[in-house]
Amino acid sequence: MTPDLMEAGAQRTQALEVRQLSGATDSGGRSASYGRLHQAGEVDLTHGRILYLEDVSVSFDGFKAINKLSLDIAPGELRCIIGPNGAGKTTMMDIITGKTRPDEGQVFFGSTIDLLRYNEPEIAQLGIGRKFQKPTVFEHLNVFENLELALKTHKGVRASMFFKLDSAQSDRLADVIDTIQLSDSVFRQAGNLSHGQKQWLEIGMLLMQDPKLLLLDEPVAGMTDQETARTAELFLTLKGKHSLMVVEHDMSFVRTISDIVTVLCDGAVLAQGTLDQVQADERVIEVYLGR
Ligand SMILES: Nc1ncnc2c1ncn2[C@@H]1O[C@H](COP(=O)(O)OP(=O)(O)OP(=O)(O)O)[C@@H](O)[C@H]1O
Ligand SMILES: [Mg+2]
Repeated sequence: MTPDLMEAGAQRTQALEVRQLSGATDSGGRSASYGRLHQAGEVDLTHGRILYLEDVSVSFDGFKAINKLSLDIAPGELRCIIGPNGAGKTTMMDIITGKTRPDEGQVFFGSTIDLLRYNEPEIAQLGIGRKFQKPTVFEHLNVFENLELALKTHKGVRASMFFKLDSAQSDRLADVIDTIQLSDSVFRQAGNLSHGQKQWLEIGMLLMQDPKLLLLDEPVAGMTDQETARTAELFLTLKGKHSLMVVEHDMSFVRTISDIVTVLCDGAVLAQGTLDQVQADERVIEVYLGR
């Protein structure tokens, strides 16, 4: 197993831990005053936003990768984010998921959960799932085992060895296998799956944790046209049940799945609207053609 895979596995396991935040945390104890971690399912959607960023900035060695970025996403929405290389799309996801701390600004999950108070595993546990570009499934395990692993709580080796799915979990696993269209490959080793199938399996592993919000960074990069088309179908199925933020350079894919598209450039929102609207915007044309 590569170190990447091990790290991803460790993060997943950590994310599944149910922890009390009464003591010091990676977030410097800032969460302590909250008493306990919000549980997934408690996201306050009364203001019609599942994710809210306001005036967020971050610099790396004096370079402003994110520059007063503000945007919000409605519950159940599938938002596409496009923008030239280096626009700050991945950095924005790093900030939402707690991997990178912004220098300033606000990041809220629903109306009440201040994500800047939580660390990366805690944010995953709150119900924000993230898919990186490279698939990070456990290659030596089969599809079923990978999905099952996504449910195991971190209670030590013994508890993990004797972990058994309850009936609700079995139902969810069956649903997820259907959703990611891998019912013909349940007992195939993940290492033998195609690139596209590995990506779907990883999305399935995220779905096992029933995330409220899914962040997907270039999910169809490296996929065949047929795999890309199936991924579009999958995302359209997920829309409504989950909120999705999808970063992608493949415009025909974006055209198939998108309602509202946000164009990021130089760490801020340059334009927002339907794909046709943003593609007709002179400033958007300039940043895509002018570089
Ligand atoms: N940890 C870091 N240290 C220094 N610079 C960074 C770091 N992370 C990102 N950057 C810089 O911030 C800018 C935004 O990078 P980011 O990866 O977010 O862009 P992106 O929009 O995801 O681009 P792409 O479409 O190529 O994936 C780039 O100039 C990048 O070099
Ligand atoms: Mg990127």
